[in-house]
Amino acid sequence: MLKTLDGLQRFAASFGYRPDFYVRSPGRINLIGEHIDYCGGLVMPMAIGQATHGWYGFNGTSLIRIFSERFNELAVINPLDVMSGASGHWSDYSQGLLRFSAHRKLGRGFDVYLTSDISAGGLSSSASLLALLSLVDHHALTGQIIPLADQSERLRLAMLCQRVENAYVGVPSGIMDPASVLLGEIMTLSCQTLKYQRLAPISHDYRLVIMDTQVPRTLAGSGYAARVAEVRAIEAVLRSAVPRGGLAQCPPTERDDHLLRLSDPVLKRRAQHIFDEQQRVILAADALNRLDMAGLGALMNQSHRSLSADYEVSCPELDLVCELSVQSGYSLGARMTGAGFGGCAISLVDAKNVEAHAEFVSAQYQRQTGLKPVVQSCEPSVGTEITLLSEKS
Ligand code: GLA
Repeated sequence: MLKTLDGLQRFAASFGYRPDFYVRSPGRINLIGEHIDYCGGLVMPMAIGQATHGWYGFNGTSLIRIFSERFNELAVINPLDVMSGASGHWSDYSQGLLRFSAHRKLGRGFDVYLTSDISAGGLSSSASLLALLSLVDHHALTGQIIPLADQSERLRLAMLCQRVENAYVGVPSGIMDPASVLLGEIMTLSCQTLKYQRLAPISHDYRLVIMDTQVPRTLAGSGYAARVAEVRAIEAVLRSAVPRGGLAQCPPTERDDHLLRLSDPVLKRRAQHIFDEQQRVILAADALNRLDMAGLGALMNQSHRSLSADYEVSCPELDLVCELSVQSGYSLGARMTGAGFGGCAISLVDAKNVEAHAEFVSAQYQRQTGLKPVVQSCEPSVGTEITLLSEKS
């Protein structure tokens, strides 16, 4: 991570004055509950230490200027003249946010210098960025910094971020990522009611380890949209049998009947995953409460198999890295995390053997694929947070 001082200096070099605020917005993993947030399911995300970082100040004009270190480019946006649709440029997220926030009407300009240490696909860098921008934009509009404790305002911003992804960027994603990033820590979240419950961090004897396959998530956009469309097709077949909250909310006693009604074998497998995954999250929350780590690990393995075979959002490298992780003898369970089609998997690893696990997985994975994975443990993090920079920092 960049030191605050470096960020300050880089901001000053780009904009010619000292920033007043620093904002950090975490990435996230999802322990379990994959591909069910867009049909009212229960999910278990955890915000992590890898994050997007921003330094910002108000510039006394109505313009918004954003420098992205990753793209080494400055985007200058007039909030009264935002582009009407996405153009494929990195600034789409900023444009989309300004389009849907109230900013276009009020216009108090700011400058942001952005960097990120979210190293891989699947850790929700886009929700992390959107959450950061939404909090800064809210600050610019109202003069208020939304504290971590104001959970209802944060959920409101999460819905705004989701709207930007869905209606502006064009990805039909669910609420899980922005809610996780803005609320922080580890929780179960009902994507139907937006009620959530904080969970205690996992037992000290185990670590959650991220395994980055180094496989780009090439299909993530189109494959993801295709899965959402399949879910809508299932809902169209089952019609009134699907509760208002979405497919994942079908009562367990009715699920077998629903599966029988789905004559298309592909749709049947997709529905099977959704029903089973919803149940697994309930069991996983219970296992966590009882400190039953072996139970949690077994559910993670089942979740991965279902995502690979029934939902078909894994890839050979994600399957391999999960298999190797369990084969190492140091992991209780492993599964892909996020949208899939490449990116990262996570594993529940014996804390005393985190390094031995990483060595085993890396060596075997590299031997079999020629790719060098990045294997590193992660800790829960607070949600997106703004800090006032002192004169001395
Ligand atoms: C992506 C989406 C989320 C969720 C996951 C899969 O991360 O942004 O809304 O659907 O995939 O669980």
